[in-house]
Amino acid sequence: MESLVILISGNGSNMLALLEARSQIDRVIVISNNPNARGLEIARKYGVETIVLDHHAFPNRQTFDTALAERIDAHQPKLIALAGFMRILSDRFVQRYQNRLMNIHPSLLPAFPGLGTHARALQEGIKIHGCTVHFVTPKLDLGPIIIQAAIPVLPGDTEETLATRVLQQEHRIYPQAVCWFMEDRIIMNENHVEVLDSRICELTLY
Ligand code: GAR
Repeated sequence: MESLVILISGNGSNMLALLEARSQIDRVIVISNNPNARGLEIARKYGVETIVLDHHAFPNRQTFDTALAERIDAHQPKLIALAGFMRILSDRFVQRYQNRLMNIHPSLLPAFPGLGTHARALQEGIKIHGCTVHFVTPKLDLGPIIIQAAIPVLPGDTEETLATRVLQQEHRIYPQAVCWFMEDRIIMNENHVEVLDSRICELTLY
């Protein structure tokens, strides 16, 4: 029985993309650090187990991360997927889940780690933008890259138009990366990701 834990903080559109495309996953558990996350409602509608762990209820990052790890470990997930989870995780937490903690980031890493990626892309005048799925390491947004998608920056683009087009690509590549992982097709080669047989995963509808 393979399970997947998805961590969210907000809208949960990437979570939804994972729920709709889950393959070789028997069980999904969604955990939010934000009790008002819109994604929680969506997950409940899908009949997925949800857990709220409000970080405001903890005195510091370490105690929150310890409680989060306890919730996660209770489900023995094969993979933990950050899907718009907007909290920095402690090094200890990240190391505990080395090579099974994935994140989706709205830029072509290593360009624009951190927040405000679309505004910064426009400011720099770059012509190609996109998104990245990577393994999480203690260095923020700089872990081994699994898959990326690129889009052109068009004349007249705004933060919003860019965000919309990048998000469409996020919804395409995140399920793909998760599917590769669940099928044991991702291997680490000297800190670089290699995908065995990188053909498109057969995704089954939820
Ligand atoms: C997505 O664009 C995701 O890449 C980004 O937040 C958004 C969440 O949207 N994540 C980060 O910036 C992480 N540093 P969603 O809640 O609709 O999936």
